[in-house]
Amino acid sequence: MKTRSAATQSPTKSGPMKKPMKKPMKKPTMKQVMKAAVLAALAGAYGMAAAQALTPPMGWNPWNAFHTEVDEAKIMANAAALKNTGLADAGYRYVNMDDGWWRTRRADGRIEVRTSMFPSGALPDGSTSMRPFVDNLHALGFKAGIYSEIGRNACSQAWDRHSPNLPEGSQVEREIGTFGHQAQDIKLLVGEYGFDYVKVDACGLADYTPDKAWVRDGTHRAFGPWIVRGKPDAASSARVEELYADLRKEIDTVRPNGDVVLSICAWGEARVNNWGGKYGQSWRTSPDITPDWKSMLLNFDSAIGRPLFAGPGRWNDPDMLELGHGEFDERHLVEARAHLSLWAIAAAPLMIGADLTKMPQSLIDIAGNRAVIAIDQDPAGHQGVTIARTGDTQVVVRTLAASGQKAVALINRGGQKRRVSVPLATLQLATNATTRDAWTGKESTVDRMITVDLAPRETALLTVRGAALRPGRVYVSEVPARVRVLEDGSAVLTTAQAAKWVPVQANAAPSGKPLTLEGRAVAEGLGVLAGSRVALRLDGEFRRFQSRTGALARGGALTYKLVADGKVLFEQTSAKPVAIDVDVAGVKTLELVTQGPAGKLAEVAWAGAELVQ
Ligand code: GLA
Repeated sequence: MKTRSAATQSPTKSGPMKKPMKKPMKKPTMKQVMKAAVLAALAGAYGMAAAQALTPPMGWNPWNAFHTEVDEAKIMANAAALKNTGLADAGYRYVNMDDGWWRTRRADGRIEVRTSMFPSGALPDGSTSMRPFVDNLHALGFKAGIYSEIGRNACSQAWDRHSPNLPEGSQVEREIGTFGHQAQDIKLLVGEYGFDYVKVDACGLADYTPDKAWVRDGTHRAFGPWIVRGKPDAASSARVEELYADLRKEIDTVRPNGDVVLSICAWGEARVNNWGGKYGQSWRTSPDITPDWKSMLLNFDSAIGRPLFAGPGRWNDPDMLELGHGEFDERHLVEARAHLSLWAIAAAPLMIGADLTKMPQSLIDIAGNRAVIAIDQDPAGHQGVTIARTGDTQVVVRTLAASGQKAVALINRGGQKRRVSVPLATLQLATNATTRDAWTGKESTVDRMITVDLAPRETALLTVRGAALRPGRVYVSEVPARVRVLEDGSAVLTTAQAAKWVPVQANAAPSGKPLTLEGRAVAEGLGVLAGSRVALRLDGEFRRFQSRTGALARGGALTYKLVADGKVLFEQTSAKPVAIDVDVAGVKTLELVTQGPAGKLAEVAWAGAELVQ
């Protein structure tokens, strides 16, 4: 259920913070230029036109601190704070506006800016524009972000009715969402104003049913619903998908080859987790975060459970950071560090949501921790995969770009002290590795087993360096960014299943149960549904692909097919598991296809699916 507090959250108490004013942002170093080139090449491999959020976007957004009661002066003060504190240099590059910037939609369809909020937008000829605001951010070296809506009306119009900054005018003048205005609005926001990031919310599809007070009173037109929260099959997911696809198309028309982020904000509804990556650079996986431990974990779970859907240019988004608020304020530094650690291991966008002009240095230091940011921003873009979960403890591992390196988060979700261990072999590393604690910088050598003692709610975030356990071999489940789900087979799921299952999963069955084959547990593998097509990006780097593939439960025959750059390389129909070992030398993209009788639900394990160099 969506709930909103009536009052704007109070930002953190003021405290000492500012370091001396820094120089303008530095020119990129040779290393950064090289990294950009590698990322651009990667983008080419994904068929994308240009570098678009090839690492998770980082920046600042006013919503969690101010709701709609924000203005240009507050945003610019936070932009200045990003620079003064060094956070901009640490990677926080986007400065975004959220709900509330619009005053009305004129008869010609053009949106007017609320100039009481954005005074720079009142132009001498009487017209309004966000261009001066964007120019000011660009002049400071930031990228600029804006907020819009996929339906006719925004979230604030339903949920922040007390706000002094709601759209004004007649019913149709209040319709500031993109529905029916896709091309015009994207031209305005991305073309004319020059925004680099557009977050597009979805309340207009969910919260304007005829029964709502704000519809009954005639101020807003009834709509749908096309999204029913928590009920994917009561929603018109395909129509929601089409709307976002349209916006992507308009963005690409206005700025072909442009670096424009589309941030899809449909809170994990309308099966967005399965299609968000086709059009957006990120998509929210859960409801709005609130500044408490439970909400933070809920949102983390929604993102960490779907590793195979993320990768460079397409990120699971568990929502903006709550550092500085509630259970993540300066009295809760253990929780604050855990929050950032979890977002980093999940390769989540890092959007600071606090008023930085009042942020204590202790929290600035947490947000700016370079070792943690480096894990979040690792250029390989493999999201973390959970490899152990017992009661309150959880271990998540993320394969890093540097060979032989993994990041591992050892998480204590509960209120008791816990000891957590993970064998190096489970990380696919040989004995004798070196660990480095991202928070303390402490290095240790480890023989076989990493063990940490965790305080309540503490997370240890380590990078681990060592030799590969099986040199020249990598499990597909270790490299999620190489996976692209082309078809997920989820059409056969019931409503209840669709709400909970993950159609293509690493090291687990789509249902969430353990992955098994012929009654035996599978530690490393993909769990999929019949009807799925999963592409692996090999880039000609491997010689062989090997897997044992079969249904989890006994049933009729299924067909397993491998398609290498469009050619069928292997095909077998069998009621029993099949052993696959094929030559993939020179292959760029390998598709794993699982087929069964139409409409039949079958969970399948690609057990031990691995690539051999
Ligand atoms: C929704 C989004 C939030 C925020 C508000 C603005 O709730 O999920 O992130 O943008 O709308 O009204």
